[in-house]
Parts: sequence; C-alpha cells; structure tokens
Amino acid sequence: MSPSTEGIVCSPLEHAPLHLASEVLASGESAQCLVNPELGLRFPIRNGIPVFIEAHQITGINSRFRKIYDDWAPFYDLLSRVGLYVLGVSEIKLRQDFVANLEIKAGDRVLATSVGTGSDLQFLPRDCEFHGLDQSPEMLRICQRKMGRQGIGAELFVGQAEHLPFKDGSFDMVYQMGGINFFSDQAKAIREMVRVARGGSKIVIMDETEKVARRLESVPGVRAWFRHQQRPIVPPTELIPHGMEQLEYRELYNGQAWYLSFRTPNHARASR
Ligand SMILES: C[S@@+](CC[C@H](N)C(=O)[O-])C[C@H]1O[C@@H](n2cnc3c(N)ncnc32)[C@H](O)[C@@H]1O
Repeated sequence: MSPSTEGIVCSPLEHAPLHLASEVLASGESAQCLVNPELGLRFPIRNGIPVFIEAHQITGINSRFRKIYDDWAPFYDLLSRVGLYVLGVSEIKLRQDFVANLEIKAGDRVLATSVGTGSDLQFLPRDCEFHGLDQSPEMLRICQRKMGRQGIGAELFVGQAEHLPFKDGSFDMVYQMGGINFFSDQAKAIREMVRVARGGSKIVIMDETEKVARRLESVPGVRAWFRHQQRPIVPPTELIPHGMEQLEYRELYNGQAWYLSFRTPNHARASR
C-alpha cells in the first residue's frame, strides 16, 4: 500500500484512522495489517488486499450476492462479454464510452465502489491513482491477475459500498458500474460515494434496467441469482442527496441501462 493510500484509509464504521503494522500469523509467516490500537481495530491484508469485511459479517441481500460473485468470479468476464453481445452491445465500446464520460484528469484519485474483475481498468488513463473496492474477494483476485497481465497499478480493497473505508473528501472522481441494483442499502451506498468525494467531484452510477434484469432471469443458471429478489429495479434518482449539482439521468443502449451522474457542490472542496 502506498503512503498516499495509507493516508486516506480509515475504519469503515467509526472512520477512525488506521496505520500499517506487521503481525505474525498462526502459520508463523509474517503479514501486514491495518490497525488502530486505541480502538482495538485490526484489518488483515491478504494477498496484498486489505480486507474490511468478512463473509460472516455480511447480512441481507449483500450476503447472497457475495456468494454468487465469489462462486462465479472465474466465469464473470466471459459471461458479461457474451451477455452484452446477446443484448447487442459491444463490451469494449461500452467501457470506452463509460470511461470517457468519467472525465478523469491526470493525477486524479479515482474510486470504483464495486470494481469486480476490473474490466474498466485497461481503458482508464494510466496517470490516475485508481482504487477499486468490492465485497467479493474472488472477483478482486481475478482483477489482480488481470492488472498483473496488463501492467496496471491500482489499490484494491475488500469492503462494502455502504461502508467505505476511506476518509471524507479523499477522491476526485467516484463511480459505480453494475451491482447497485442489488445492494442491500442503495441510499447509504450513494451517501458514501458523496462523503468520500472531494467538493466539485463527478459521481457516476450505471446499472441495467428492469428490462434486462427480467431477461437475465430467464437464463438457466442465472435465474437462481434472482430467486427471492422481489425488489423492482428503479434507478435511484430519488436517493441522490439534496444539494448535488449538474444532475443528469439517461437511458442507454435502447433502454437496457440507466446512467446517472452528478457533482458534489464545490464549496465542500476539501484539501488533500
Ligand atoms: C455486475 S458486477 C459489476 C462489476 C464491475 N463493476 C463491472 O463493470 O464488470 C457487480 C459487482 O458488485 C459487487 N457488489 C455487490 N454488492 C456489493 C456491495 N454492497 N458493496 C461492494 N461491492 C458489491 C459484486 O461483488 C460484483 O463484483
């Protein structure tokens, strides 16, 4: 973990500062972790990825989707490419267009709050400081492998979008692509994106519409993902906190995806 990232991480619930420490594991190996000794907090770093939430601590629909994504991680990239192709959408074009709309500038510190296998990363400018969080360690493991193959540097975190382990005003750009439709608490996840963004930052959220989710339900194997999932898919425009600026809502790809963007107010601009 770079010193600059160590400077922005905090505990996800108390927002208490953390620092890197070394520990000796039961196996006798030494490893790093993030600690706050005053509050007795300790978060392990496994395979180079800080872990802010363990499977047994996840509740509600998040717990269901953690298992689904952990199990399906090795097949996710293939499934998403084929799925988008069937919907008549080129994944490469979709990701190129999506990243272009993020308006990332050189040196920006960027956060993706459910980075998954990191399929956007190859399209991001190399001169930004990228941070990707996801609640599925297996999705992040695939992401890490791809980063190695593509020579991309980024900091990854196992955590929940509803409880981000970052200090207020840490990022110049925050986005969420796919996943939020089924987060346990969408309002909290959006408030967290706003909290960790600096004043004047662009926030972008995109996911599939109800139309696509219902089509996915008819695919054998995928159908089980949606079992017991009664919540209709409603783009979360009503959940955008009061006072946000330049709110923009669009439907893309023949109504198959919704896209939402806004900016945090500039007067809240916090210095790094
Ligand atoms: C459809 S995938 C999208 C992945 C990636 N953004 C992409 O564009 O391919 C949804 C991702 O959201 C993650 N996820 C689901 N609920 C989450 C939560 N509450 N907090 C963080 N990540 C979550 C899943 O583990 C999965 O990697």
